[in-house]
Amino acid sequence: MEQRIQRAERVRGNITVPGDKSISHRAGMLAAIAAGTTRISNFSASKDCGSTLECLTTLGVGIASSGSEVIITGRPDGFQSPAAELDCGNSGTTIRLMAGLLAGLGVEATLTGDESLRSRPMGRIIGPLEKMGALIESSEGKAPVHLVGGRKLVGIEYELPVASAQVKSCVLLAGLNAAGSTSVIERTPTRDHTERMLRGFGVEVDVSAFGSGRKISVHGGSRLKATDLTVPGDVSSAAFFLVAAAILPDSDVTIRDVGLNPTRSAILDVLRAYGVGIEIANERISGGEPIGDVRVRSLVLPKRPTGYSIRGEMVANLIDEVPALAILGACSEGGLEICDAGELRVKESDRIASIVTNLRAMGAEIEEFENGFRVEMSELKGGRFDSFGDHRIAMAFAVAGIAAKGETVIENAECAGVSFPAFYEVLGSLAV
Ligand code: S3P
Repeated sequence: MEQRIQRAERVRGNITVPGDKSISHRAGMLAAIAAGTTRISNFSASKDCGSTLECLTTLGVGIASSGSEVIITGRPDGFQSPAAELDCGNSGTTIRLMAGLLAGLGVEATLTGDESLRSRPMGRIIGPLEKMGALIESSEGKAPVHLVGGRKLVGIEYELPVASAQVKSCVLLAGLNAAGSTSVIERTPTRDHTERMLRGFGVEVDVSAFGSGRKISVHGGSRLKATDLTVPGDVSSAAFFLVAAAILPDSDVTIRDVGLNPTRSAILDVLRAYGVGIEIANERISGGEPIGDVRVRSLVLPKRPTGYSIRGEMVANLIDEVPALAILGACSEGGLEICDAGELRVKESDRIASIVTNLRAMGAEIEEFENGFRVEMSELKGGRFDSFGDHRIAMAFAVAGIAAKGETVIENAECAGVSFPAFYEVLGSLAV
């Protein structure tokens, strides 16, 4: 599908975004192993979270849904071995977390996905799961990943070699059913939804400081109890509208009920640093996560503070927002520099290459590094741009399109549904 985007003067309005993808995946998986019935409100409408639910259904979990509410009847005694492969679609979170959960339960299963997912590294989860005693077959550390099953895992202490919440969560989920305790050490804090949600389901999770990072431990044999929860709006989806409002002066957008978990919300700090007006109202806790309404207003073009670059520990907290931030950079005085973000090369596309290719084609001055890029303030022009099959690239360049001269056409635009099926309609509803 092609999506045509016209230049807009400003964006204005009051919207919500789909439930958080990371939190929805975890809610589905934890509900599936909990005793009792869990009602999840505002479950993400994304294709990715649909993949998680489909895998759980194939594993024999009872799931009913109506609108954005999902009701899951857990199987605390484990899953049946699936008759078919588990198709994780485009979703790295589904495959990596599900692998941990199933390995811990000793379930025999094959996990696979689309072409993009089959090209992404799975060695990062196979390594620690094998250390715990799992037997896993794969072709050079890529999906399909076959869990041989029938093995009782043993708890380990594992230091993450890359800052990855998916790997951390995979190991912790495996640890729930391993002998003894399982600890993950992360030098750089990553999103902590798994830790928060495990507690919500009644599991003891120990978290202690470890250098500048932390050590998270769970105990084998932990039993989960069903609990109802409401998923906050996805701050990573909100990011596109925050940036759209920031780069079109005289914009005023409020996004209600957005997740404000401190391991996810650094984009608000970046926007503030660029002089964009951000106000938070109605702050509260929902399902163990902080949420609130975010209003973004911009009177002048954003400006990069002197000596500012996004690097080091900051990156993990912004990793999914980089495509949106690249557009902020191209439309801000002083531009934007991102370093230490090599992980972007193994996302749904090589996001550094996708961003550089498209921004350059829009006329931006951009320099590519192995682990990042630097973009200068540029006058963007429309044209035809590929999404590279990557939802966040499609959405970021739709936002670039509303600030660009002339019409912008996003090719293979349907992949936005991987996280945000109604994205283009919502963007169109804000444009004035
Ligand atoms: C996610 C973790 C991040 C992020 C992804 C979702 C999660 O991936 O990019 O979109 O839900 O745990 P990594 O753990 O690979 O950094």
